[in-house]
Amino acid sequence: MARAVKLLSLQKKVQMSISISSLSNITADPGNIERVNDGLSTESNLSTLTFTATDLHNFLRTRRSIRRFKPDPVPDSVIQNILATATFAPSAHNRQPWRFVVITTQEVKEHLAEAMAIDFERDLARDGLPPEKIQAQIKRSKERITSAPVAILLCLDMSEMDSYPDEKRGQAERMMAIQSVAAAGLQLLLATHAEGLGGVWACWVLFAQETIRKALNLSESWEPQAMFFVGYPEIIPEARERKPLDDLAIFP
Ligand SMILES: Cc1cc2nc3c(=O)[nH]c(=O)nc-3n(C[C@H](O)[C@H](O)[C@H](O)COP(=O)(O)O)c2cc1C
Repeated sequence: MARAVKLLSLQKKVQMSISISSLSNITADPGNIERVNDGLSTESNLSTLTFTATDLHNFLRTRRSIRRFKPDPVPDSVIQNILATATFAPSAHNRQPWRFVVITTQEVKEHLAEAMAIDFERDLARDGLPPEKIQAQIKRSKERITSAPVAILLCLDMSEMDSYPDEKRGQAERMMAIQSVAAAGLQLLLATHAEGLGGVWACWVLFAQETIRKALNLSESWEPQAMFFVGYPEIIPEARERKPLDDLAIFP
């Protein structure tokens, strides 16, 4: 069981060659893009690429949360690329407190789905939901885990963050680490998009952190924060509406 779970210690396993080959597929005008090389090493920089700012804005704005996937497997090399790009997110003190658990086998997905269902059922029963609604929700949540070709659990590890004697700074430090992990989560979704794959962020692992840790035999310090379902999109939904910028930003 533990062997079936691929725990990737990214500092050891990242491939530093980042494929950009599918980026051109999702830009408005791929003809604008001259692919100078097929890989982007850590030494190279964006000046070697000829994407325009508009291309990149367009790329960022065309990411969608994808919830339905084709059954096709995702090659390991693509998953490695996605994770490697996620690790280029900024992090507080560059401590990189993100950890990843990549789940591709049906056995592990089912084991996890069953374990999480127990917590979910208990919470919904406490909420007073009727049994048939509880069962319907549990069925849906199990299907989401078992039907995605890849499930990536994103964890927070506080062990290399600073510690403080007072609670206020301790909480601030924890917040910084959580923000850093969230940045890696977004970067993971964007890398997924760059590969022509789809992904969605699922936050409900926060309701079952301990259960997940036990089910996957994770180290004590790995705190589940989010799950990402990844695969080739079956349906690409329309963009969801965004609030007008005028309601969100001030320029005093
Ligand atoms: C922190 C966070 C938690 C989310 N949790 C869920 C979730 O549990 N289930 C889900 O279907 N989508 C979840 N999403 C995806 C959002 O619903 C989605 O990003 C939002 O509706 C905007 O749609 P878009 O991503 O297609 O632009 C989450 C997104 C974030 C950032």
